Amino acid sequence: ADDPLVIFTPSGKRGRVPAGTPVLEAARRLGVDLDSVCGGRGICSKCQVVPGQGAFPKHGVTVGEGALSEFNEVEARYDRIRGLKPGRRLGCQARVLADMVIDVPPESQLHRQVIRKSAIERVMEMDPAVRPFYVEVTEPALDDPTGDFQRLAAALAGQWRIEGLQADLPVLARLQPILRKAGWKVTAVLRDDGRAPPLLIDLLPGLLEGPLYGLAIDLGSTTIAGHLVALDDGHVLASSGLMNPQIRFGEDLMSRVSYGMMNPGGAAEMTAAVRAGLGDLARALADEAGVAAGLIVEAVIVCNPVMHHLLLGIDPVELGQAPFAPASSDALTVRAADLGLEIAGSARAYLLPIIAGHVGADAAAVVLSEQPQQSDKPVLIVDVGTNAEIILGDRSRVLACSSPTGPAFEGAQISSGQRAAPGAIERLRIDPETKEPRFRIIGVDAWSDEPGFDAAAAAVGISGICGSGIIEAVAEMRIAGLVDAGGLIGSAEQTGTARCIPQGRTHSYVIHDGRDTGGPLIAVTQGDIRAIQLAKSALYAGARLLMDEFGIDRVDRVVLAGAFGAHISPLHALVLGMIPDCAPDHVTSAGNAAGTGARIALCSRAARGEIEAEVRRITRVETAIAPRFQEHFVAANAIPHAIDPFPSLA
Ligand code: FES
Repeated sequence: ADDPLVIFTPSGKRGRVPAGTPVLEAARRLGVDLDSVCGGRGICSKCQVVPGQGAFPKHGVTVGEGALSEFNEVEARYDRIRGLKPGRRLGCQARVLADMVIDVPPESQLHRQVIRKSAIERVMEMDPAVRPFYVEVTEPALDDPTGDFQRLAAALAGQWRIEGLQADLPVLARLQPILRKAGWKVTAVLRDDGRAPPLLIDLLPGLLEGPLYGLAIDLGSTTIAGHLVALDDGHVLASSGLMNPQIRFGEDLMSRVSYGMMNPGGAAEMTAAVRAGLGDLARALADEAGVAAGLIVEAVIVCNPVMHHLLLGIDPVELGQAPFAPASSDALTVRAADLGLEIAGSARAYLLPIIAGHVGADAAAVVLSEQPQQSDKPVLIVDVGTNAEIILGDRSRVLACSSPTGPAFEGAQISSGQRAAPGAIERLRIDPETKEPRFRIIGVDAWSDEPGFDAAAAAVGISGICGSGIIEAVAEMRIAGLVDAGGLIGSAEQTGTARCIPQGRTHSYVIHDGRDTGGPLIAVTQGDIRAIQLAKSALYAGARLLMDEFGIDRVDRVVLAGAFGAHISPLHALVLGMIPDCAPDHVTSAGNAAGTGARIALCSRAARGEIEAEVRRITRVETAIAPRFQEHFVAANAIPHAIDPFPSLA
């Protein structure tokens, strides 16, 4: 008679296997994605399947009684002790006896499909570089002279067909006590990035029951943000951020490069500071999620080129002068411990490739997250930070540059500016008739003219104005006619409001005067407007430079990325002329796209290959040496712009 026919759902893969073949083995032969950590020993339960019963006209099969073997001893014991859900079987124990339809539930799939939401909703396949393998190692004997590591490697080859295992010293040094204490039954944590030979990251006693974890880190010049991610299904267990401890050496990147140049040992000092910060962040994330640091087995880091060099301990001096050559631009894999990350034994950190001397791995991560290369029409992506990363592209090509916007968009260099924290004005409207402002502060869920605001605000304290607040304030001042196209604030007589007060030879617009109650006077000064004009001109000029290069004078879509991008109102960004004209409903926010890109690279080896290839195709545009940048910069100083039309604002 014919061998039994097995059909797996939902994949639809089918084929004949000899009667008596375990379901797990049938799945392997037919290329069906069925998980296993214990290698078919009936202890991990990762291989659970749901056998079908009755007629399946769609597949042309009828599953009769006894098409699958009865519970054997191993499966019965698992069911007795741990309990199998009704209708579930262990795929490594149940054997195929006759034609079968077998469903693989999502949690039994090794390469789980997870949906990630961003500007475009995408399905991502879980395929991390590090995975656990349970293995039973032969004990040493007097007549067997091979080492423990060699016997471990032989066991992995025999039980998992893993060849060429490698290990480095930190794990080798701990190998013997772990094997003995665990009775030679261990979970080997292996890293296989598809390029280097499999590497032993760590050895855990017995069978690892839960998942392994990874870190996705967005190392910015101002903040370091990280996620702790489960490597089985990609979900985020904890997210946290801290100030980059390098700030004490300089607010922006170039001041840090010059700190390194002026002070002997300065670069090394900054390296030590940022590594300490990374270590703190990793500990905070592990604590928050209640996960042992030893179960964190991989890290992915994205950052700009200067942070990249300082983290790696490379003096960034060459990045500060033309032709801005990075020491190494390809993706890098280094020991996590060398970067200050105290995670599993020999865990590695993967750094995404750098696009150019001024355009970093953070921009590469944004490309990975937002996929401009898949867009039919040109999409402009701006990652707003102290340094703006700007990307323009469609299916035909992708261009990238960076632009030194400075920290004004983050509330720095603004007279009443502050970081986004409770008490900061984050949104603002000005009545075009009365010129009176109304605003919201972080930490209070009401507008300033709504009931309950005063009491709540008194508790928090109105302290200043943050990045999104200053952008809205300047745009609203322009709409209300308090500021002219050149950026000049009018006097009380010119504007018709006593809120415009003289300050030296210029004027300021008072938003909030808390001095009666010991609070601050919060006003937008002429200097603030100038700082915002400089920042927005740099951003706009960078975008225009890419548009020139691309040969277009209008973009179809604008994506605002960066933690701060999430809080910018598209309309106000347009009024200010931060971004080129575009229909306001085509301006979207992608949140922290660089962090999302880091998470994708953490969960998927294929995504790493994808972005490494894409980065080689990206055309880098160097703003610092482009003569047209200066022209665009000057023209963009006006609000919204001296020459370019903004039809969408009409
Ligand atoms: Fe581990 Fe079946 S493979 S229980």
